[in-house]
Amino acid sequence: MRGDSGRAARSTGSQCSPGSAGTMRTLFYSYIFTALPWLLILIIMIDVDTRRAIQRRTHLRAVPGSGAGAERRTALPVIYAVTPTYARDVQKAELTRLCNTFRQVPAFHWIVVEDARARTDLVARFLARAGLRHTHLHAATLLRYKRPRSPRGTEQRNAALHWLRANRSRNDSGVVFFADDDNTYSLELFEEMRWTRHVSVWPVGLVGGRRYERPLVENGMVVGWYTGWGAGRLFPIDMAGFAVNLQVVLANPKALFKRHGSKPGMQESDFLRQITRVRDLEPKANNCTRVLVWHTRTEKVKLTNEPDPLLDSVTIEV
Ligand SMILES: *[C@@H]1O[C@H](CO)[C@@H](O)[C@H](O)[C@H]1NC(C)=O
Ligand SMILES: *[C@@H]1O[C@H](CO)[C@@H](O)[C@H](O)[C@H]1NC(C)=O
Ligand SMILES: *[C@@H]1O[C@H](CO)[C@@H](O)[C@H](O)[C@H]1NC(C)=O
Repeated sequence: MRGDSGRAARSTGSQCSPGSAGTMRTLFYSYIFTALPWLLILIIMIDVDTRRAIQRRTHLRAVPGSGAGAERRTALPVIYAVTPTYARDVQKAELTRLCNTFRQVPAFHWIVVEDARARTDLVARFLARAGLRHTHLHAATLLRYKRPRSPRGTEQRNAALHWLRANRSRNDSGVVFFADDDNTYSLELFEEMRWTRHVSVWPVGLVGGRRYERPLVENGMVVGWYTGWGAGRLFPIDMAGFAVNLQVVLANPKALFKRHGSKPGMQESDFLRQITRVRDLEPKANNCTRVLVWHTRTEKVKLTNEPDPLLDSVTIEV
C-alpha cells in the first residue's frame, strides 16, 4: 500500500499540519538525492562546453597575423587553389585525393579548370558532392600544343586568372595558388601561404630529379636556389612552390602564363617575372627549410586486362 501512504503524506503535507514534518523531511531528502546526480552532470556539461569554446577561440587566434581583433578572425584571406585537370583513367582518383585535403582547409575556394571544349558531367558531378566552395571552368588546349614536350595547363591556369579578375575586386582578400592534381599537400602549407603579402615561396619535394628543390634564404631573404636543372631561369621554381596575393593578380591584369617562347619548366619563371622580383619574395616554411608539398605523380595505370568490348552489364564511372 505504498501508493496510498504516499498520497496520504502529500495530502497532509499540503495542509501543513505539524505532525507531518518528519514525512516532509524524508520527501525533501529523497528529492535532493534524485536531483543531485543530474545537477552534477549538467554542471560538468556546461563546463566542458565553455572550455571547448575557449579552445576554439584560442585556436583561431593562434593563426599568425590574425591578432588584430574579432573582424579579422572571421575574415581569413581566402585561398584560391587553381587546378587544371584533363580526362584520363586516374582523373577522379586524383581529384578525390586533393578534395579530401582541401575540404579540411578553412576559407578555401577551389577553381577546377578542365582541359575540354565543355565542362564534363564527371567533373560536374564530382564537384557537386565535393563539399567545398568551388568554381568549375573549362578551356581547351589547342591541338598543336598537345605534344609531349609542350607545357601542360597553360590555357587552364589563364582561364582561372581571367575568372579571378572578372569576379573579385579590391575588397576581397585572398591568395592564389596553382595546385596541380598530381601533388600531395600538407595542411600546414595552406596556413603558411594564407598570409602572403605579395609572392611567397617554399621548398617542393620529389621534383627536378632531386629529393627536393628550395629557395636559399639568408637573413629572411631569397638569395639563390637549390635546384636540379635549369638554374639559368630567373625563378627556378615548381608550380607548387609559390603563392600570389590576390591583389597582386588583380593589379597586374596582363600577367599570364605564356605559350609562345615558353618551354616546359619556364612557365613559372615567366609568370613570376611579370609580377615580382627575387628580392621581394617572402620565404615560408621556416625560411624554406621544410617540405610541405610533394610532386608525387601517380603511376600510369596499366589496363591490359580491360575487355573490348566491355563485358559488364552496366556502365560504371571510375
Ligand atoms: C565571373 O565572371 C564571368 C566573366 O565575366 C561571368 O560570366 C560570370 O558570371 C562570373 N561569375 C560569378 C560567379 O560571378
Ligand atoms: C568595396 O567596398 C566599398 C566599401 O564597402 C564599396 O563602396 C565599393 O563599392 C566596393 N567595391 C567593389 C568593387 O566591390
Ligand atoms: C628566418 O630568418 C630570419 C633572419 O635570419 C629570422 O629573423 C626569422 O625568425 C626566421 N624565421 C623563421 C620562421 O625561422
